[in-house]
Amino acid sequence: MSVLRTKSVEQSIADTDEPEFRLKKSLTALDLTVFGIGVVIGAGIFTLTGKAAHEVAGPAIVISFAVAAIACALAALCYAEFASTVPVAGSAYTFSYSSLGELFAWIIGWDLILEMFLGASVVAQGWSAYLGTLMEQLGAPIPDAIGYGGTVDVMAIVLVLVLGGLMTFGIKESLRVNMVLVAVKLFIVLFVIIAGLLFVNPANWSPFVPAAVPAESPSGLTQPLLQFLSGIEPTAFGVGGIFAGAALVFFAYIGFDVVATTAEETKNPQRDLPIGIIASLVICTLLYCAVAFVVTGMVPYQELDPTAALAQAFVFHGATWMATLISAGAVAGLTTVVLTLLIGATRIIFAMSRDALLPASLAKVHPRFRTPWVISIVVTVIVAITAGFTPIGVLEQMVNIGTLSAFVLVSVGVIVLRRKRPDLKRTFRVPLSPWLPGLSALICIYLMLNLSVETWLRFLVWLAAGFVIYFAYSRRHSRIGQPGYEEFALPHVVSHQRDDSDDDPRS
Ligand code: ALA
Repeated sequence: MSVLRTKSVEQSIADTDEPEFRLKKSLTALDLTVFGIGVVIGAGIFTLTGKAAHEVAGPAIVISFAVAAIACALAALCYAEFASTVPVAGSAYTFSYSSLGELFAWIIGWDLILEMFLGASVVAQGWSAYLGTLMEQLGAPIPDAIGYGGTVDVMAIVLVLVLGGLMTFGIKESLRVNMVLVAVKLFIVLFVIIAGLLFVNPANWSPFVPAAVPAESPSGLTQPLLQFLSGIEPTAFGVGGIFAGAALVFFAYIGFDVVATTAEETKNPQRDLPIGIIASLVICTLLYCAVAFVVTGMVPYQELDPTAALAQAFVFHGATWMATLISAGAVAGLTTVVLTLLIGATRIIFAMSRDALLPASLAKVHPRFRTPWVISIVVTVIVAITAGFTPIGVLEQMVNIGTLSAFVLVSVGVIVLRRKRPDLKRTFRVPLSPWLPGLSALICIYLMLNLSVETWLRFLVWLAAGFVIYFAYSRRHSRIGQPGYEEFALPHVVSHQRDDSDDDPRS
């Protein structure tokens, strides 16, 4: 049996119809856009804007946001095409199953688990940090031992447990709560933009692109892989600083891909998924560029606070109540990011268990709530432990590498599936294929090379663990590896989609 056995698109779709695995289809394009904004706008804009402007880009951080948006937009187009062709839970995992084969699908699913588990944990810690700031501003500080950076971050654990419970109870209910919190978050972001304009001093934008200076270069395992391989010393500011800033603020865009994990719960996925993915990315890009523009206009970039720039920009001008309001908005805003990443993680594992690459018993859907409740509980517990006990600042780059590797495979997957299955109905098509998907993959690889050597080492360990599980368990249990799978599950799908037929252009 070929290592590259694939699962056909028809099989993927038919699997979603089996009663014990069927999710409730209730989401609309608006739900998905809100879901996308809910997961994208988070710790990135509230913290990284200041750090990137202060350390590497100056006011040109606005351009960095635009550059990172272009990288994401190319990947988003690829996701949109795939999601419109293979409307099945599991996002990039499912897409690669039908284009690149089971092994790649496993790797990508494994990477997405990394992205979403760690993303949820990291943002839960960030939420706890903002909660600490807010409570302090309100005069009721949280004791150090149980808050952000404490021995156990009890606040982060409580947040994850509450959101995990909500997600187990129902997707529609979760998204209703999400919608309210996203509204609060959008209000705060718009507030920063509009109220911030009152404090802008245009002199702060000059020079817009500060002259390049040698950067304080990290060494050893903390230096970027590219620097380690090439020996080129990085610079801060100047044009190079714009790209370094883009690699840094990339985190702020992470999450639009999670929209694709809800495909099976969408009423009309072929139409609504591309709208949801692209609309959320466009809205976030406009807001990010505007926030970056205003904040760098409010405070000289040398004086921007690298951890809480948005709130501190108002403190800088003596508007402390506004700073408190922004901290409160950040607490609400980060809640939705954690919730959405938790939902995304359960949907990925759901798809992988349904294919029996992970134990199939995990994928049972609750008869009343119609959510994958076993997985929801497992995910909640693991994320709560990670968020509560991992030291802060260790795992952020792992989220980026997990996401970027998924983007690379999805971009390549679009090209492969176009070749293998030109006949499939695609309600959305990436323009200029294979050039745009190819460019998308290259840009993502470039951004990956900008991540640190230690991140790469951790990533390789994660991949190695994935390979061990795949060859020891998943490959043998995989549904498509079982004799008679197609005949049993898919009477209408003919046997040319048999898993070994990778060389067959129609498989
Ligand atoms: N994009 C998300 C954030 O910035 C992960 O928090």
